[in-house]
Parts: sequence; structure tokens; C-alpha cells
Amino acid sequence: MKVLITGGAGFIGSNVADLLVKEDHEVVIVDNLSRGKIEHVNKNARFYKCDIRDAHKLFIIFAKEQPEVVIHNAAQIDVQMSMRKPALDADINIKGTVNILECCREFKVRKIIYPSSAAVYGNPMYLPIDENHQVKPISFYGVSKQVPEHYIKAYAQLYNIKYTIFRYTNVYGIRQDPKGEGGVVSVFIYKFLNNQCPIIFGDGNQTRDFIYVNDVAKANVLLDVFGDLVRYNGLMM
Ligand SMILES: NC(=O)c1ccc[n+]([C@@H]2O[C@H](COP(=O)([O-])OP(=O)(O)OC[C@H]3O[C@@H](n4cnc5c(N)ncnc54)[C@H](O)[C@@H]3O)[C@@H](O)[C@H]2O)c1
Repeated sequence: MKVLITGGAGFIGSNVADLLVKEDHEVVIVDNLSRGKIEHVNKNARFYKCDIRDAHKLFIIFAKEQPEVVIHNAAQIDVQMSMRKPALDADINIKGTVNILECCREFKVRKIIYPSSAAVYGNPMYLPIDENHQVKPISFYGVSKQVPEHYIKAYAQLYNIKYTIFRYTNVYGIRQDPKGEGGVVSVFIYKFLNNQCPIIFGDGNQTRDFIYVNDVAKANVLLDVFGDLVRYNGLMM
């Protein structure tokens, strides 16, 4: 199966790409390398340097590649940045997703997988958060991850595109940038390796939950293989 992964040079996208290649799928990667690294791009994947805001270039790539499934990872992921520059955040996360969906419609992509975020929930009213928890983002990043969920559902209904939306919490694992958001595991490891003391915020009690990037990659691949039938760790909606 041919799978196009946006953001496939980034932390999660590159791990998903590696697993798909290992499972003999044909992988196409689209990334503007703003945060992703070319050395993280799987050698057996075809790579296009492209910004998801460039609708024309995306159109040409989709026309050439005709993917069956799209995993749309590319995003502006910095919460603080979203507060400083909400228009830029919306441009990438909302308009960029609409560009991808337009290509999915035009080239009859069978399915789109979208990693939304636990940021859409805002402050939890109870724990653990489940799919029934109210959605009330408290950052522009939370808003710009939620809005595409609605677009995806509307495109699915209007144009018969299948979809799965994940809402990841704190993903950790290989290739995570220690300067990234929520990357406490990589921050601590980075500090240990550099002989520095990690800083614990709050009272040290656990307030976040974590998921290993290989488990995330497996969930993505299982979805491709088994369509909509699989539930994986209760993560999927
Ligand atoms: N890491 C987490 O804990 C977490 C949690 C919830 C949701 N997510 C979502 O998962 C996805 C992947 O996150 P990640 O942690 O791997 O981040 P990442 O920054 O490592 O990966 C994002 C990739 O998208 C690329 N990109 C950014 N803007 C782009 C643009 N305009 N055009 C093309 N490519 C662009 C970057 O270069 C990067 O390679 C994102 O959609 C993010 O919102 C991540």
C-alpha cells in the first residue's frame, strides 16, 4: 500500500515511516524540514521538501504519487509559539490541513489518519481523560489541533474519505527533540547525559501520561492494515 506521511522527517512521523517501510509499504514523505531532519527520513521512502501551506506544490506531489492513505503529521507543535503567533499557527495547522484534505478529495485518497492532541481538552475535569471528556482548549495550539478534526469529519462525510483521529498525550522515544514541548523524558535524558540536574516542576507527583513512540507507530500501522476495526490502547476515536 502507498502511504504519504506529512511531517515524516519529524519525531513521530519518522518512526511511523520506519515501521511502514519495514512492513513493506511504499512510503512517500512530505516535510518542509522546519523541525524535521533529513537524516531521519527513511532511506527507502521518497522524500519531497514541501510546505503544507503550498497548495500548488502539494497538488503536484499528490498527482504524481496518488497515495492510498495519508498520515498527516506535519504541524506547528509549539504551544508557546501558538500564543505568540496565532495566525501563523492557524495557517500551518488549520489551512495546511485543509490543503491536504483538498488533495485527498481530488486524488481519491481512501483514508486519512490525523494526530490531534490532548491539548484539545484544556484543563482536565477528571482523570483519566476519555473520548467523552469535554473539549475546551486553553491554547491556540489546542484550537488549531481541534479545528482540523471538524474539517476531516466534514470531508469524510461529503467525499467518502475514511479517517481516524488520534488524540496523543505526551509521546516519548527515539529522535524526540529535548527542546520540544512536553518532552520531559528527552529533557531529563539530555540533562543526565550532559551532567546537569533535571528540574522537577510542581511537587513531583505525576500529572502527565506518556506513550512510547513505537506504540504510536504500531497503532498507525495497525490502522492501515486492518482499516477501522482495531482499537488500540483506547487511544482512537
Ligand atoms: N509529540 C507529542 O507528544 C504529540 C502530542 C500530541 C499530538 N502530536 C502531534 O503529532 C504530530 C507530530 O508531532 P511531532 O512531535 O513528531 O513533532 P515534530 O515537530 O517532530 O514533527 C512535525 C514535522 O512537521 C514538519 N512541519 C512543520 N511545519 C510544516 C509545514 N508547514 N509544512 C511541512 N512540514 C512541516 C516539521 O519539519 C517536522 O518534521 C503533530 O501533528 C503534533 O501536533 C504530538
